[in-house]
Amino acid sequence: MKLKSVEEIISQIRVVLRLDLDLPFFDNKIIDNSRLQKSLSTIKLLLEKNCKILIIGHRGRPSGIEDKYTLRPVYLELMSLLEPNGENLIESVFVPEINFEQIDQALAVNNIVFLENIRFWPGEEQNISDFLSPLSSFCQAYVNDAFAVAHRAHASITLWQHLPSFYGLSFVEEYNHLESLRDPSRPLTLILGGAKEDKLKHLDKLISRCDHILIGGKLPQLLTLQNPKIIAASLTLDTFDIDTESIAKFTEIINNSKTIIWAGAMGFYENENYRNGTEKIAMAIAATDAYKVVAGGDTCASVSNLNLNQKFDFICSGGGVLLEFLVNENLPAWS
Ligand code: 3PG
Repeated sequence: MKLKSVEEIISQIRVVLRLDLDLPFFDNKIIDNSRLQKSLSTIKLLLEKNCKILIIGHRGRPSGIEDKYTLRPVYLELMSLLEPNGENLIESVFVPEINFEQIDQALAVNNIVFLENIRFWPGEEQNISDFLSPLSSFCQAYVNDAFAVAHRAHASITLWQHLPSFYGLSFVEEYNHLESLRDPSRPLTLILGGAKEDKLKHLDKLISRCDHILIGGKLPQLLTLQNPKIIAASLTLDTFDIDTESIAKFTEIINNSKTIIWAGAMGFYENENYRNGTEKIAMAIAATDAYKVVAGGDTCASVSNLNLNQKFDFICSGGGVLLEFLVNENLPAWS
């Protein structure tokens, strides 16, 4: 399938832009801004076309309005990336609530209007179509550059049903790269980690597509399925990382693989005391000649902190979406 690129959008219109704004934080500080960096080319393209941009996105999994999940720091980070010398040529504003009249007025006088965490309101995750459809009365197009949530049937992802729609430059690039994983060189090793239990949801379908599935992070404690292809790590005593024996076992399998897909940190990566397993696995993968794909916030942060980005063939923005893509041809972001 060919996605319609943002390059085809006409000039001087108002655009709703869905971005991956769920950046990794520690101690209230952003620890990796790669997801923003990835979308800069799409934002700059829209600004060059004199479009007004309403940016929407989510952070974390809040239950209602929770200050700790505000997107305000992400807004400030984006503006400092767009104007590193504080030029102030781009008029912008952060809007803390969903008030369509206020958003309409803000778009009249700003180049960028940045909306608070869309998951603060129940209409987003319940995919209530009336929740965001009023935007179509004063915006003329929708652009999705949030590949990490392409698998979520949420209102900000299915908005293509209400507006003429396009896909951002990084979205199209990720989609095209992942298409090539549908016919991988074997043996194919999938490495799963992190804390999100939903990574295990498709394990039964993934078994038939992979030769080995290595499991670390919090997932060994949540795993119920047993299969000879699945190897769950044993954890350190405090359970915040995988142990040295597992690192050695995983490394051996990694060294014999032709395709490696890695989604999720091996330990509690946000805390630098628990990065050993993740870093050792990152280095082991980077040293192979296999086709290598890495996905997910913390996993990508580890690769970039170790300066290993160039060693990977592709860096996918989300672990969850990568797994859904491997088992489902059609995702809510396009069908
Ligand atoms: C991610 O971090 O992978 C995306 O933001 C998806 O988040 P979710 O799993 O909470 O939908």
